Amino acid sequence: MARQKLVRFAALENMPNVIDGRRDRPGWFDDVFGPQSTVTIELGCGRGEYTLGLARRHPDRGFLGIDRNGGRLWNGAVVALDEGLSNAAFLRAPIEDIEGHIPPGRVADLWIPFPDPLPKRRQTQHRLVSPLFLERYRGLLAPGGSVHLKTDDAELVAFAEEAVRSVGGQLLRAANANATDQDETAIHTTYERKYRTQGRTIYERQFLLPRASRSGVHTTVRRNAVSSSSTLGGS
Ligand SMILES: C[S@@+](CC[C@H](N)C(=O)[O-])C[C@H]1O[C@@H](n2cnc3c(N)ncnc32)[C@H](O)[C@@H]1O
Repeated sequence: MARQKLVRFAALENMPNVIDGRRDRPGWFDDVFGPQSTVTIELGCGRGEYTLGLARRHPDRGFLGIDRNGGRLWNGAVVALDEGLSNAAFLRAPIEDIEGHIPPGRVADLWIPFPDPLPKRRQTQHRLVSPLFLERYRGLLAPGGSVHLKTDDAELVAFAEEAVRSVGGQLLRAANANATDQDETAIHTTYERKYRTQGRTIYERQFLLPRASRSGVHTTVRRNAVSSSSTLGGS
């Protein structure tokens, strides 16, 4: 293993804003964010740029970046400590295990900026917007909580829309490269800056998932989609 990685992994152990998913204990979420609070989560946060951007904009809210790659996550954790962003934390864990780490109903919303597109057919179930993952997220979201996706990959957008439809969800917002500085979608990670420089279209989607019920049976989506043209499965 490269020396830099080893140094970072050792440093992660002692960072107060990093939770190691292999060793977290029940109650860590309340300890970090406060009991009854809801937080915004970035899935596959990499270097944590989106989590940091949101935390800077909303000092009164809690943010958690999740990634299985400790070396990347280290970058975000260091910046958060340097800037005194006490409302941002990072969880090192595979998102496949998210339900074992995050209490149900405590996620205000989920952001998935520039997930790995995993274009091969055999990889589809590992996409962070596959029906399998959406089912994991449903029970974590607080009432009205939504899922935000940003990507430059048109095929992934189509896949995500179909996946949301298949679990009974709705499309709330669809925009292509129209982020403004007033908007949370105006946070640009290194990936987004690179794709914009290349002239690629950036797709933004916001989805609502059906609430999870205790019995595990789907409940219907309560909030209406913004317009009939953006309703998944409409007509
Ligand atoms: C393309 S990067 C995007 C990083 C960040 N969202 C951004 O926009 O800069 C995708 C990240 O997702 C993480 N990732 C992918 N699948 C994951 C999984 N199943 N569990 C945890 N992290 C995952 C990877 O480690 C990588 O850091």
